[in-house]
Amino acid sequence: MTAGRRFVEALLDRLSEDAVAGKPAAAFHAALLECRNGADFHDGPGTPYWDPESDPDYAAALAAAPAGDPLTEAARAVAPLTRWNPVTRAEHVRPPYDADVASRMLATLAIGSFCPVHYPTVRAGLFLLRGGLHYPLHNHESPEIYVGISGAVTISHGLNGDTHQVSPGGYSVTPSDTLHSLTTGDAPVLLAFIWLGPYDRPIWWWREDETSPTGWTRSPWHRQVDNSWAMDDEEPVVSVS
Ligand SMILES: [Fe+2]
Repeated sequence: MTAGRRFVEALLDRLSEDAVAGKPAAAFHAALLECRNGADFHDGPGTPYWDPESDPDYAAALAAAPAGDPLTEAARAVAPLTRWNPVTRAEHVRPPYDADVASRMLATLAIGSFCPVHYPTVRAGLFLLRGGLHYPLHNHESPEIYVGISGAVTISHGLNGDTHQVSPGGYSVTPSDTLHSLTTGDAPVLLAFIWLGPYDRPIWWWREDETSPTGWTRSPWHRQVDNSWAMDDEEPVVSVS
């Protein structure tokens, strides 16, 4: 079995209990089943852009994951075959946002175009969040699931901050266009993620702004050719529901 197929199988297993209609994870499980049946699996040498094993936070996250967890082992196998990138770069974070956020998030795709699992309509991979991260309130069109591998991250949904933790064995679903933020403690966090739907739409970061009629301003982020994101001019949020 290729490392990519092992990653798909481990994610399917992790979500299988909630793969019933009406459960938030059902759509992600269904998409992975289609992927398992239709994808090209082709492990080969990855592009040596970043060696995950050389990153102390990545190594610490793997070491802290529950022993023998199939998803952890699948992640360990597939990660070196993928192209890791910073989610954004400090020069792309405009004030008043804290550019420090750029150094605390790395991601890679294992399922997608030209990935170990070549399947263009599902994007899935690994997300490393370093300690001390606050990823500000944001939304995007693609529904998203985070599946816990190591460490604990607090995810907040909506303007009122309905929070819960994602840790090993758990997961969190963020529906399309739902505001959410992520906060880590001291320890690094490793998640698997799946995005469904369009991949080329902006991510919007929100911040409170007393000059805006709604009290909120948002900034669009657009994906760059290296798969990282860059921020464009902000605009007032015209309605808040
Ligand atoms: Fe998100």
